[in-house]
Amino acid sequence: MQTMATAPSTILAKPLGISLLDRIGNTPLLRLDRLTAHLPGVQLLGKVEWVNPGGSIKDRAASSIVLAAIRDGQLTPGKSLLDATSGNTGIAYAMLASAMDFPVVLCMPSNVSPERKNILTAYGAQIIWTDPADGSDGAIRKARELAANDPAKYFYADQYGNENNWLAHYRGTANEIWQQTEGRVTHFVAGLGTSGTFMGTTRRLRELNPAIQCISMQPDSPFNGFEGLKHMATAIVPPIYDPTLANRNIDMPTERAYIMAKRLGKMQGLLVGVSAAGAVAASLDIAEEEARAGREAVIVTILCDSADKYLSERFWTEKTEGEDASKPNHKAAVSSKNLSS
Ligand SMILES: Cc1ncc(COP(=O)(O)O)c(C=O)c1O
Repeated sequence: MQTMATAPSTILAKPLGISLLDRIGNTPLLRLDRLTAHLPGVQLLGKVEWVNPGGSIKDRAASSIVLAAIRDGQLTPGKSLLDATSGNTGIAYAMLASAMDFPVVLCMPSNVSPERKNILTAYGAQIIWTDPADGSDGAIRKARELAANDPAKYFYADQYGNENNWLAHYRGTANEIWQQTEGRVTHFVAGLGTSGTFMGTTRRLRELNPAIQCISMQPDSPFNGFEGLKHMATAIVPPIYDPTLANRNIDMPTERAYIMAKRLGKMQGLLVGVSAAGAVAASLDIAEEEARAGREAVIVTILCDSADKYLSERFWTEKTEGEDASKPNHKAAVSSKNLSS
């Protein structure tokens, strides 16, 4: 009997497309030119992090943490990844867990938006809800308790204390910014959550050019509308956070971020999340200062996620206090600190 010879495959000779992991990072740098049209000599650029496959900047930290844990034998078959997360990191872990086939357990306050709950359920994550009154710190305490009680069951990823969090930005985000601005970046502005984005990006940018000004932004109050950000004065301070790294910090009122989110939607074609809008508002403060001082500046900020998960919030349709002012509202308290003094 004659068998049919199988011809060597040419169309399947090498895998096509790109893997989910390879799709993380290398995000575009978008010009926010309409926002700074009144400021000659200043360019404001936003790193578009919602193009990551999990929809936020947290894909970078989560993949760095997961890959290091697998490499170092901490996340082994039979163990579950455990962490506390108010949303985006959980989404990133859950996406990676599904794609790479490991179990994931997430502790989070039960008042997270329905959009987030649905996303995590769709990825198949196990969720342990904590009291919303305890905020993200309550979720951290719960994760620590579970990890301490059953260390054999869990790899406690601990995004707040894991060096691989900020290293993702040291190796990725910062070098991308450097290349995308052809080394012309003068200012870097980012919100503080775990602080991984700010710590890692700042450390590397300073190595590349010590003159770059790195400005952190955080909520001006413990009660705020910033998803994923921390009011460091009243929160459990993340072990990876070094408060001496920033040249200065801008305390941002939630209302200013709401106003900026609406402005970006209506005049820049961008629907961004509240934390991203807060970072843009802080960047615009810097842009206006630099323009007033007659200095040229290339300011880069992080647009950590899009508005998708926040569209059910009422501020989009309600008037925000200060919104009617003909000029942007400049309520942010700016504290300045020179590290060399
Ligand atoms: C929407 C959003 N913005 C900003 C951050 C802060 O980033 P980082 O944790 O790197 O400080 C987070 C973190 O969860 C976030 O979810």
